[in-house]
Amino acid sequence: MSEITLKNICKQYDDEHYAVKDFNLDIHDKEFVIFVGPSGCGKSTTLRMIAGLEDISDGELWIDDELCNYLEPRDRGMSMVFQNYALYPNMTVYDNMAYALKIRKMPKAEIDEKVHQAAKTLEIEHLLKRRPGALSGGQKQRVAIGSAIVRKPKAFLMDEPLSNLDAKLRAQMRIELSKLHRELGTTIIYVTHDQTEAMTLGTRIVVMKDGIVQQVAEPQKLYNNPANLFVAGFVGSPSMNFCDCYVEREGDRCTLRLGSRDSERKIYLDGVKAGMLNMFHADEQVTLGIRPEDIYEYEEAAAGGFEKNTIGMVKKVETREMLGAEVALYFEEQGSTFGARLKPENNTQVGEEVALYFDPDKIYVFDKITEENIFYKEGM
Ligand SMILES: Nc1ncnc2c1ncn2[C@@H]1O[C@H](COP(=O)(O)OP(=O)(O)OP(=O)(O)O)[C@@H](O)[C@H]1O
Ligand SMILES: [Mg+2]
Repeated sequence: MSEITLKNICKQYDDEHYAVKDFNLDIHDKEFVIFVGPSGCGKSTTLRMIAGLEDISDGELWIDDELCNYLEPRDRGMSMVFQNYALYPNMTVYDNMAYALKIRKMPKAEIDEKVHQAAKTLEIEHLLKRRPGALSGGQKQRVAIGSAIVRKPKAFLMDEPLSNLDAKLRAQMRIELSKLHRELGTTIIYVTHDQTEAMTLGTRIVVMKDGIVQQVAEPQKLYNNPANLFVAGFVGSPSMNFCDCYVEREGDRCTLRLGSRDSERKIYLDGVKAGMLNMFHADEQVTLGIRPEDIYEYEEAAAGGFEKNTIGMVKKVETREMLGAEVALYFEEQGSTFGARLKPENNTQVGEEVALYFDPDKIYVFDKITEENIFYKEGM
């Protein structure tokens, strides 16, 4: 049982700016928590502060009921797995995995049992006599994880452990890490800049930007209910499309005019969304967001009953990608690229036009200034 709590954790490498600012999080036992965000947003710094490899400038780190800000790394009960494996090149795989236990002066028989058990879980028993130089990237990564497992830590801290692997191996190791997490039942805190890795591995995801936590949520909630434009654009692949719109009140309905106030290209919204926009943003400019998978052709829109909600979105195809199960079409919209994922039967070629329909239930609207999701549901 272990709980890790970060209270207003800050990191300043210099006086001027924060690498991490006011990081608050309760990590529960057995969670698989992901820190995700673009390069330089403070993910590794936060992880290293938890590990004790970096001083905490301000705030409190609690592990169980102990304040740990000044606790030595080895006394925190964490095992760290790095991107570059950190294996001893002159030792066999067995000795690499046994090393931390030997230092602790654990009896030989017990070490032997632990190493073999971990090797079995990771399917590397046949490699125990080899040296790291004779292993593939994926095998090295497994040995590094094995060295962490034998120590039976309160939590694993992993910093981009898969980023040195090729795409196929990465996908495979992703599945194995999920399995490992279930089998070991240990808390994992995992850093990545890859949103796919975050979405597939995490039980909870912390999205960071410029040292500041943007949102903490389960993967599906992050996808369906992003707090702001940054999270909306970061989560999901290919990413959400954005464009400028003007809000026009029409009784209970709300019209979003694309691009300019007198544009004839428009989206009608009804119900709660229309109510909120009419009440708080009438006549304002906002940012509309829609995911490529929520854009349809006429037949599907008609089947869904929303074919009359989109007017005039006839676009010329700039790029076409046949992906087998679907076709991705790309258009220009207000100077940016807009993508739609349509049924593979769609035969529109580059240079030809296609009429598109947005699913109004899947439309997001962001405040032009704060970039907050206007429809964000607190606590969801
Ligand atoms: N030792 C250091 N001294 C000064 N600044 C540092 C130091 N380490 C990191 N930083 C700065 O702190 C910020 C956060 O860095 P950090 O390594 O935590 O980012 P990251 O999210 O892990 O990025 P990446 O995805 O590139 O690994 C960056 O602006 C970085 O330049
Ligand atoms: Mg990093």
